[in-house]
Amino acid sequence: MRRVSPSRPARCAFSFALVLLVTLLAAAGCSPEAEPKTDAGTTVDATDAGGYARLVDPLSMPLQPTVQLDHFRSAGDCAGCHPKHHDEWSQSRHAFAMIDPVFRALVDLRQQEREGQEDGFCTQCHSAIGVRSGDIQPGFRWKDLAPVTLEGVTCEACHKASAIERVHNSGHVLDDDGPLCGNLENPQTVAFHESAKTPHMGEARFCGGCHDVVETNGLPLERPYEEWLASPAAAQGKPCQDCHMPRYDGTAALGGPQRQGLHRHRFVGVELPVGPGAPALDAATRSELEAEIAALLGSAAKVQLALPKPARGGEALDVVVTVRNAIDAHSLPTGSTFLRQVWIDLEVVDADGAMVYRSGDLDANGDLRDHWSEVDPYGDDDLVTLSSQLLDVAGNPTLFTWHAAEHRRNAIPAGHERTWTYFAPIPATTKGPLQIRATLRFRAYAPFLLRLVGLGQMVSDVPIHDLAKAATAVDVTAP
Ligand code: HEC
Ligand code: HEC
Ligand code: HEC
Ligand code: HEC
Ligand code: HEC
Repeated sequence: MRRVSPSRPARCAFSFALVLLVTLLAAAGCSPEAEPKTDAGTTVDATDAGGYARLVDPLSMPLQPTVQLDHFRSAGDCAGCHPKHHDEWSQSRHAFAMIDPVFRALVDLRQQEREGQEDGFCTQCHSAIGVRSGDIQPGFRWKDLAPVTLEGVTCEACHKASAIERVHNSGHVLDDDGPLCGNLENPQTVAFHESAKTPHMGEARFCGGCHDVVETNGLPLERPYEEWLASPAAAQGKPCQDCHMPRYDGTAALGGPQRQGLHRHRFVGVELPVGPGAPALDAATRSELEAEIAALLGSAAKVQLALPKPARGGEALDVVVTVRNAIDAHSLPTGSTFLRQVWIDLEVVDADGAMVYRSGDLDANGDLRDHWSEVDPYGDDDLVTLSSQLLDVAGNPTLFTWHAAEHRRNAIPAGHERTWTYFAPIPATTKGPLQIRATLRFRAYAPFLLRLVGLGQMVSDVPIHDLAKAATAVDVTAP
């Protein structure tokens, strides 16, 4: 079996026992995995009829509420005085964290399988307010959630973070009665809220508190902060904010003083909010956002093709491709690398324009021809991908983090490069010169993944970006 089925996976007694064992071991601070990097902080409460233990974490998944829902204000309450921050945030993926249809589909699957006992896990970062206030309960339904919970990573999920206890799995302390944290010099006083100088707001570990994700069995899923710690950017003191929250000069609040170095709040990354529930963007905003994403992605990589030796008809041509991660701050790719696709599309074309060799092209469904392809599985033996792969206990690929026992990574660390050699067979009759083109391509979601979670209609909303390209030509000598 190569593929997980879209329906509920079979729950044999073995997997039941395993799930329980893993949870208990994680709770005891050890795991059957190789040394977990961190303690996922999970403990076990009452066990339900199905044998699943409710996940509890005193900071991020408390059994009893630690904050009060009505102490958090909606982003809409900030818009009157901070219109630019509000507009930008509402176009960001942070505002979409609890709406995102792919997120919802996966949470629904986990909810079904684990009978709601792990419902706090995925939501602890996507809505820390919802989980800690008890608005999100085992077996919760999306339509019953409070508006501020559905605002996801909303203003006060960040600006009421008074301390950082751990740099993963929703590691922030949320002070529901506290002042709003920021770093303005002498902020104007305002009756609506108190302000507090909070240096961690400007640091990478503030982002890492949510951006580093560790599964309940200790398996690291997303580690941009850990990658950053070892990067040249960390050595230069260049945090996440420098690239994902570009600076501008203006006013922080309507009528406030002119200031330098304010922070854009679109949190530009790799994609627009797309699919059902996405905000309606006017054409100008949409093209601005697309341009910001394209610029960020365009800065991520360099591709080089070594000058090949002349090809000989009837033999294989060596094509040597090097990809350099031009980001000095984290791996390429980073974040949810098991959902993203980053791959090399390599073409060798003869003098008549006929394709002599191809790797990294798409099948009739728009999928890569790897093990997930429904029409040509394993059809592209040479495929080079930088995406990561989750494997279950039996070693089969899975997309579901809660089935994963191993995370196989292919990303290139900050500032590093990697080289691959393709052996492209050249038929004896081929007419040169050959054109060789290598393109590093990215997309947020593969079509098979969207179909798997019942969102096939979104396929056309997910663009493919060309991160970097290289081209060269080579003569063909007679066999
Ligand atoms: C520790 C905090 C945290 C936890 C726990 C967490 N996430 Fe996320 N999630 C994030 C962050 C941060 C991102 C953005 C990363 C990126 O875009 O690569 C993200 C992105 C995603 C995305 C991609 C959305 C997009 O940008 O297109 C999906 C889908 C998702 N998460 C689903 C889940 C599911 C399902 C779970 C539970 C198995 C989960 N998350 C648990 C923090 C978390
Ligand atoms: C009545 C107007 C008003 C409202 C409503 C308002 N703010 Fe403010 N806020 C201000 C002013 C004025 C400042 C100080 C601006 C300056 O000095 O440049 C400020 C400063 C801030 C700061 C910087 C604090 C610091 O110490 O650096 C943050 C963060 C902030 N506001 C967030 C919010 C959030 C989140 C909301 C909604 C929950 C909100 N504000 C609602 C007027 C308002
Ligand atoms: C993902 C976390 C996050 C969210 C969500 C968020 N902010 Fe911020 N905000 C920041 C960070 C980080 C800074 C910069 C802090 C620093 O200067 O070190 C900041 C700065 C600010 C400032 C100070 C002026 C500036 O631009 O530097 C204001 C005002 C502010 N935010 C308002 C808001 C409002 C209003 C919302 C919601 C509409 C919001 N923020 C949502 C993280 C967030
Ligand atoms: C030097 C600029 C720079 C800094 C600093 C930086 N990033 Fe990035 N980031 C990028 C670029 C470029 C991309 C797009 C390429 C990619 O996905 O790796 C990106 C992509 C991302 C993504 C989206 C990944 C995906 O495919 O979903 C996340 C999440 C992210 N960064 C988080 C962080 C965090 C957290 C930090 C700080 C620990 C950080 N970044 C620091 C440049 C930067
Ligand atoms: C309270 C938790 C939380 C904090 C704090 C946080 N993030 Fe996020 N971030 C998320 C989640 C959850 C998502 C994924 C939302 C989605 O698309 O479903 C996300 C998405 C993103 C993305 C979009 C990636 C993409 O898919 O394009 C970027 C960029 C990003 N965050 C940057 C930052 C930076 C920079 C900081 C620190 C200033 C930060 N975040 C702090 C939770 C958080």
